[in-house]
Amino acid sequence: MALTSRPRGTNDVIPGEIELWLELEEKIRNVCHAYGYTEIRTPMFEHTELFQRGIGDTTDIVEKEMYTFVDRGERSLTLRPEGTAPLVRAYIENNLGSGSLPVKLFYYGPMFRYERPQAGRYRQFTQFGVEALGSADPLLDVEAIALPIELYRSCGLSGFEVQLNSIGCPECRPAYREKLIEYFTPHIDSLCKSCQSRLHRNPLRLLDCKVEGCQRIIQDAPAITEFLCSDCSTHFEQVRIHLDDLNIAYKLNPRLVRGFDYYTRTVFEVVSSELGSQNAIGAGGRYDGLIEEVGGKPTPAVGYAVGVDRLLLALKSQDKLQVALKGPNLYLAHFGGDTKRKAAQIAHALRGMGLWIELDYADRSVKAQMKAANRLASQYVLVIGDEELASNEAIVRNMTDGQEQSVRLDELEQLSKILGACAK
Ligand code: HAM
Repeated sequence: MALTSRPRGTNDVIPGEIELWLELEEKIRNVCHAYGYTEIRTPMFEHTELFQRGIGDTTDIVEKEMYTFVDRGERSLTLRPEGTAPLVRAYIENNLGSGSLPVKLFYYGPMFRYERPQAGRYRQFTQFGVEALGSADPLLDVEAIALPIELYRSCGLSGFEVQLNSIGCPECRPAYREKLIEYFTPHIDSLCKSCQSRLHRNPLRLLDCKVEGCQRIIQDAPAITEFLCSDCSTHFEQVRIHLDDLNIAYKLNPRLVRGFDYYTRTVFEVVSSELGSQNAIGAGGRYDGLIEEVGGKPTPAVGYAVGVDRLLLALKSQDKLQVALKGPNLYLAHFGGDTKRKAAQIAHALRGMGLWIELDYADRSVKAQMKAANRLASQYVLVIGDEELASNEAIVRNMTDGQEQSVRLDELEQLSKILGACAK
């Protein structure tokens, strides 16, 4: 292992790219503000049991993908593989449901899954998620879809599709479970090892299997929609009516079950035509039983998480989200004698006014400093030599239109005003 290579499945976000991330983060905050979602920040790791209970023992994430470790106090902890279970834990622990409902929260940050890395699939990745807790209103299911779509739209993304399904509730699901076991049992020898072991423990998980041999069998499996109880059917119908009202196009996908046990009723996934096999740019659903499962009062809830890395990949492939890189407000060139000290004092004062000021740290020639100013795309340049120092006056040059003005070096108000006009 070379010390200079990062761990497999992780990424550095370097200057030149970070600007895109920040731009996207700003759009995320704007759209959350419009929908009334407030930010919450939870720890990067939680007790392992939270995920085992919350996500489900028989899911891929819990069986194969968690970064679990024992700390020095002999506690089993896990780097969060997703944000919903931690948010629910925080909702209960901080008694966030004591006021008016629903409580609408969002989070943004790194998640960790031990997956086989490939384009768009990483071991550390960033999710932005929204969760509305405390209401079963189908309109909230629709807002959990509308909000990220508004984000995608505000980024200029096109070519994505919403896939929608309802996976029922503890009332109607057992009959479907039985039907699935009945359907898959004659095919047991053709199923992959993991499907074989899950058939009786959690047959719904089989519908989520990506193994080609299993996929062929899954195609003809019975669809859950035929087994929904009347409450779930009505709820699903309301979701579709609201989606139609908001002109949000979707495709019904009766095989969509999602890789978590906490889901009830509505589930959805948004896929982008720009990405290869890892084409889901976000997904979510309703989880009316999770809060109780984790130790809270029975509370319905629904949410969605955007895969930020994948969204950026999709945007890049469509040439969207190009950020014009801004240069400094001023490059202070100095040459000889005490000019560097004066330049440092001026820079210090102007930076204190919030302006971006660059200067030379290597006592280079004026020519080299002018080159540096150009390379940084500085908006103005000011050169201080012995003469300027003696007269307390220098020329500030606008690098875009070449216009020059004389400014006093002992009265920085005038200079800050000139620079302020181009400051953000
Ligand atoms: P998820 O489908 O596991 O759902 O993840 C949501 C999104 O995160 C995916 O659609 C994908 O864009 C991104 N993602 C997942 N794994 C990776 C990875 N290894 N590398 C890069 N991106 C990835 C959840 O996590 C649920 N908590 C969503 C939710 C919120 N359900 C209700 N509320």
